[in-house]
Amino acid sequence: MYNEIDWEQIDLTAKAPLEGPKRQYYFMARCRELVRKEAESLGRPLTFFVTTFGCQMNARDSEKLTGILLEAGYLPAENEDADFVIYNTCTVRENANLKVYGHLGLLKHKKKSKPHMRIALCGCMMQEPLVVEKLKNSYQFVDLIFGTHNIFQFAELLARTLESRKTVIDVWEGTQEIMEDLPVERKYPFKSGVNIMFGCNNFCSYCIVPYVRGRERSRKPEDILQEIKTLANDGVSEIMLLGQNVNSYGKTLKEPVSFAELLRQVEQIEGIARIRFMTSHPKDLSDELIEVMKESKKICRHLHLPLQSGSTRILQAMNRRYTKEQYLELAEKIRREIPDISLTTDIIVGFPGETEEDFLETLDVVRRVRYDNAYTFIYSKRTGTPAASMEQQVPEDVVKFRFDRLLMLVQEHARRQTARFAGTVQEVLIEEVNKHDSSLLTGRMGSNLLVHFPGDASLVGSIRSVQLLECRGFYYMGRLLQAGASVFHVSK
Ligand code: 5AD
Ligand code: SF4
Repeated sequence: MYNEIDWEQIDLTAKAPLEGPKRQYYFMARCRELVRKEAESLGRPLTFFVTTFGCQMNARDSEKLTGILLEAGYLPAENEDADFVIYNTCTVRENANLKVYGHLGLLKHKKKSKPHMRIALCGCMMQEPLVVEKLKNSYQFVDLIFGTHNIFQFAELLARTLESRKTVIDVWEGTQEIMEDLPVERKYPFKSGVNIMFGCNNFCSYCIVPYVRGRERSRKPEDILQEIKTLANDGVSEIMLLGQNVNSYGKTLKEPVSFAELLRQVEQIEGIARIRFMTSHPKDLSDELIEVMKESKKICRHLHLPLQSGSTRILQAMNRRYTKEQYLELAEKIRREIPDISLTTDIIVGFPGETEEDFLETLDVVRRVRYDNAYTFIYSKRTGTPAASMEQQVPEDVVKFRFDRLLMLVQEHARRQTARFAGTVQEVLIEEVNKHDSSLLTGRMGSNLLVHFPGDASLVGSIRSVQLLECRGFYYMGRLLQAGASVFHVSK
C-alpha cells in the first residue's frame, strides 16, 4: 500500500527509475520542484481544480489525480480559476462530451489572461481518436491529453507538461498493467470506492465502454483486501467495490476467485461496517452471490441491476444475453430471498428499432419489479459501436414521448417504494451537514435513501440509528435515536 513518500530519498540528479510506482514517485518529486519554482516566481502557492464527469469509476480516478496534485505541491481551488485545471471526461452519452467542449470554451478566455495556467484532459473521451484530433485542431490551448489506460502515469505526464510549452498527448490503446501503491486523496474520510476490476468484455451493442476502458482485468484479491484493511485503519467504514461488471470478477485471474468469495473475505475485515458494489450484470448474477448477500451482516440491502430494455427482441439486439422472462425471474428470486432489498436499474429508451410494443414491455417490467429507483437514458448514438450503424433509429419526438411516460411510471414506483420504510428505524451513515439547513444532518440508509434530521456536525462520519418520521417523496425527515435506545426494526 501507498505510504508517505520520503522525498529526501529521491535523487533528482539521477535517471528516473524505469518502471513501477518508484518511477512515478521520482516524477512526483520532480513536479514538486517545478511547482515550488513557479510558486516562488508568482509569489503565491499554485492551485488546482479537478472536474469529474460520469460514473463512480471516474470519481475514484479523480481521487487518484487529486492525490498526486497534492503531493506535487498544488493547493485545492474552489473553482476553475486555478493554475492547473483538469477534466476527467466521460463519453458514455453524447451529452457528456458536449459539456466538456462547453467548459473548454470558457477556459480559453481565462487562459488568455493567465498564460501560465495549464489545462489537462483525461478519461474515456480521450480514448476516441476523433476527439483527440478535434482537440489538436481546434483547442490548441489544452496542455495535456491522456486516456484511461495510463492514468497511473499522471505524475510523469504532469512533469512533462510543466517542463514543456507544447501540448503533451499520450493516449494508449490498452494495457494489462494495474499499478498499485500510488497516492489517493479521498473525497470523504469515512467512505471510499475500491476498484476491483477494470474494463468490460460484454460489448453491449450501444455501449462505448469496452472500446474506451479496454478488456476486463481483475485486481488480485490480496491487493484489494490489503487496500480495504488500510482504508479501515484510516477510518473508512463504508466501501463501494467498483467494476463495470462485478459479477464476472476474478474469472480471468491466474487463480480464479468468484465475486461472492471476494465479498466473503471483505466481510471479515474489521472496521468495515458497510459494503456496497456496482455494477451487476443480470446475466452473471449467481445464486452464490444472493446467498452471500442474504447471510451478510455488512452488505447493504441494495442491488443495482441494469435492465436496459424490457423487450427480449431489443435485449437481443443490445447483446445483453438475457430475456425479459429471465430478468423477471432473477428479480423475483432476489426479492424472495432478500425481502428488504432495494432494487434500482438503468433503462435506455429509443434504442434503434424499438417499437411501441417493445417500449410497453419495458413499462411492464418496471411495473412488475417495482424499482426503488431507475436511471433513465435516451439512447445516444456512439460512433464505433454496432448500434450506431443499425437502421431504424427512432425519431426524436417518439423517443421523448416514451421517455416522459417512463419517467412518470418510474417516479410513481419510486415514491411508493420509498414510502414503505415510513416509521421504521434505520441505520444511517451520516454523510454531511445539510447544505440548505445547517441544523440538520444528512444520512444515507443501506437502501441508498437519504434522511435529514436535527443533529450536531460532530456526528458526521458515524453510523447511527434514525427513526423515519415523514416521507417526502424520494427522501425522509427523521429523528436521531440515542445510542442504546430500543429499536424495533433495523436494517443495514
Ligand atoms: N445511450 C444511452 N445510454 C447509455 N448507457 C450506456 N451507453 C448508452 C448509450 N449509448 C447507459 C446504460 C448504462 C449506463 C451507465 O449508461 O443504461 O447502464
Ligand atoms: Fe457497457 Fe454493457 Fe459493459 Fe455495462 S456491461 S459497461 S453497458 S458494455
